[in-house]
Amino acid sequence: MIPWLLIDKTTLVGGEEMSLHRRDDEFVIRVGRQELMNSRMHGSEDALGELASQAISDRAKPRMLIGGLGMGFTLAAALKALPTDAEVIVSELVPAVVEWNRGPLSSFSAGGLDDPRVELYLGDVAALIGEASGDFDAIVLDVDNGPEGLTQDTNDTLYTPAGLQAAHRALRPGGVLAIWSVSQDAAFSRRVKKAGFSVTEVPVHAHGSRGRRHFIWLAQKK
Ligand SMILES: C[S@@+](CC[C@H](N)C(=O)[O-])C[C@H]1O[C@@H](n2cnc3c(N)ncnc32)[C@H](O)[C@@H]1O
Repeated sequence: MIPWLLIDKTTLVGGEEMSLHRRDDEFVIRVGRQELMNSRMHGSEDALGELASQAISDRAKPRMLIGGLGMGFTLAAALKALPTDAEVIVSELVPAVVEWNRGPLSSFSAGGLDDPRVELYLGDVAALIGEASGDFDAIVLDVDNGPEGLTQDTNDTLYTPAGLQAAHRALRPGGVLAIWSVSQDAAFSRRVKKAGFSVTEVPVHAHGSRGRRHFIWLAQKK
């Protein structure tokens, strides 16, 4: 068994450690001892980018906000499906994650950070959502494990009624809020509907076409 090698680590604002590890051509990002993501399993991250992009690709100059970057799979999938006149703002809270994407993880986003359609915002996606008003055709959120956070307690606010209303305000008419989650959450679905969205719940395979499923909410602003 090939051992995991520590490539780099950083301390998150709350004091927890985030680390990047490599084993052969496989990478993991961990928060503390828990795995945040693994480069071998990105089917649902790809689906998140594809589904959100397909929902808005017929719009003129579509504007998408993606939070966060992770290993860049969602960004790559979105860029593949979006037209050439699209604009994508990628928000990433952790500077080391951006460095890793420019270094050992660069192939996973297929050079996404260098795509002329992309602008990187180093900071909290909640701040961009909070200050926006009818600015985005799509907001794509994969900042954690879903409504049950893992990396940042402060992310919980994104999933509260106030956070969902802020996302609703930030979207253009008919805009789409796409949210990734490790599991289904019926109470959260109700909350999204209450915030003024029509909701499609999409279970997606974590990897390939069998086995474990993750969950995506595709919520359209009414
Ligand atoms: C699970 S990963 C995202 C995976 C990504 N969808 C992909 O395809 O690789 C979560 C990322 O969100 C970042 N993050 C966490 N909270 C954030 C926030 N409030 N604003 C922006 N980025 C955040 C984390 O540092 C991490 O890089």
